Amino acid sequence: MKNVVVLTGAGISAESGIKTFRDANGLWEGYDVMEVASPDGWNKNQELVLDFYNQRRKQLLQVEPNAAHKALVKLEEKFDVQIITQNIDDLHERAGSKNVTHLHGELLKARSTFDDELVLDWKKDIKLGDFCEYNFQLRPHVVWFGEAVPMFQKAAEISAEADVILIIGTSMQVYPAASLIDFASDSTPIYFIDPKPNVSARGRIEIIEKKAVEGVPDIVDLLLQE
Ligand code: APR
Repeated sequence: MKNVVVLTGAGISAESGIKTFRDANGLWEGYDVMEVASPDGWNKNQELVLDFYNQRRKQLLQVEPNAAHKALVKLEEKFDVQIITQNIDDLHERAGSKNVTHLHGELLKARSTFDDELVLDWKKDIKLGDFCEYNFQLRPHVVWFGEAVPMFQKAAEISAEADVILIIGTSMQVYPAASLIDFASDSTPIYFIDPKPNVSARGRIEIIEKKAVEGVPDIVDLLLQE
């Protein structure tokens, strides 16, 4: 069974109605990243940070996976598909993908500020005063800027085994996620699906200059015909 490794970013969820970060009127245009997605921001104003993620969690519960998420599930008919996502939404899981590694955490989980390992499923707002069993404030289970990326080692090991890599809807501007392709062998073909790609086609990288909802079903059909 060939290993297909799929690295996804905000662009794959764009057609589900979730804003990307760095596109025109992206999420970071409306907020100061360091205020709402960094440990300093949390230490300065926990309520502002909780409200930022509470709004995103409410929106997530109202949107659905799109054709791109669903096409990746179809790929599992023939391949061992490992999804490594920078997204904190659960749209891959809701579409039916079985192997999803969240590099930057999960919006529908909360965690203790006392014990990083204490993670809870959490679909409602996180409010000041929502404490873990050790009586410490709960925070979003999200990797903020400047924080460690605990799943990176696992993602690097997965990437090293890839026979094919799909990169979908990411500007490849955030590390260490963007360095994952370096762990794959130089001969591993890479398909880059993005309507405004900011990497150039070279050697083993093929660019599919389309939105994910068009480009992903196309590449899935191509791979399934192989
Ligand atoms: N289909 C596919 N790609 C799209 C679509 C679409 N419909 N719309 C936009 N894109 C592309 C954009 O062209 C861009 O290359 O998706 C990419 C989105 O890039 P970013 O907004 O930078 O999002 P991402 O790469 O996921 O950001 C990485 O940065 O802010 C942090 O932690 C956050 O996980 C996030 C990380």
